[in-house]
Amino acid sequence: MNSTVLVTGGTGYIGSHTAVELINEGYRVLIADNLSNSEPDVIDGIEKITGVRPGFEKLDLCDAPLLREYIDRNSDITAIVHFAASKSVGESVEKPLTYYRNNLVSLINILEEMQQRSLSNLVFSSSCTVYGQPDKLPVTESAPVKKASSPYGNTKKISEDIIEDCITANPSLKSVSLRYFNPIGAHPTAFIGELPSGVPDNLVPFITQTAAGLRSQLKVFGNDYNTPDGSCIRDYLHVTDLARAHVVAIKRLLENRNKKNYEVFNLGTGKGISVLEMIKTFEKVNSLKLNYTITGRRAGDTEQVWADTSLANRELGWKAESSLEEALVSAWKWEQYYRKNK
Ligand code: UD1
Repeated sequence: MNSTVLVTGGTGYIGSHTAVELINEGYRVLIADNLSNSEPDVIDGIEKITGVRPGFEKLDLCDAPLLREYIDRNSDITAIVHFAASKSVGESVEKPLTYYRNNLVSLINILEEMQQRSLSNLVFSSSCTVYGQPDKLPVTESAPVKKASSPYGNTKKISEDIIEDCITANPSLKSVSLRYFNPIGAHPTAFIGELPSGVPDNLVPFITQTAAGLRSQLKVFGNDYNTPDGSCIRDYLHVTDLARAHVVAIKRLLENRNKKNYEVFNLGTGKGISVLEMIKTFEKVNSLKLNYTITGRRAGDTEQVWADTSLANRELGWKAESSLEEALVSAWKWEQYYRKNK
């Protein structure tokens, strides 16, 4: 009998891709999501890809009694992957309390439930934003955590601290925090992908919406950085690779192969790519031209960051396998599929 995994935020971008990979590996998947930033028909997409319909409940994790009642009803849950969180950097600057409440109260509620019923295994969705602009590149997990540049980033840092403190107090709890670099692309079937609400903040959805004619022009935020072509550098990884890493982390916890009760891993490709390289690659692999212009820097942007992934490679046996080209082809395929079918 396979384990049941609760995926919070499972109708979101990374959550839905992770649900697919978990189902493909034989796990029973339950999704809890308040649908504040995602659509219920993502469940159809997951079913179309896997042939299995995950359990779904519209649930706000900030509501402790409702969460308790939900977990009571689903007492076969053996592990939780916690994605559910607000994620817009700009919005978090305008509404810090909303972000602190939503992202931290939900985590605290989950941890309380886990403690109460000796539910031991938690995979947490963290971010490379905790490193700020690192002093050394590529950045390893032992690099100092810097002051967050936004309340959103701070919720990731505080969440990691909360989990670690709970594990110190309760050694039966085990957790892996996965620090994502920049996830991009969509499932190769194009049945699920990224669905930004309103004007996208992130580079790749802005690129695909510009290519689709929804945005008139892409702005490149700065070409005067201290990088080879002057534009910012990030580590962009295919979302399906990122999703696979969650399955590996869940397995590690369920099979008690973790070396410490709290572990942290960087998830990236290990390669830095500039904004201008992203544009050129997108144009080349999809045979089209993007309308773009260079503008000033975006406040709060880090100049360059990419991952040292050797710990994840060694300990998790995980490596990003898809190329940037594949990721950018899948992103464009998804944008077109979504426009046609929505
Ligand atoms: C941001 C957050 C990160 C979060 C991630 C995904 C920070 C420091 N980072 O990453 O925590 O996990 O979003 O939500 O807050 N760019 C343009 N034009 C655009 C959009 C972006 O030139 O229209 C550039 C940016 O300047 C940046 C790169 O593209 O250099 C990537 O930007 P983006 O996709 O927003 O991700 P990050 O800022 O790296």
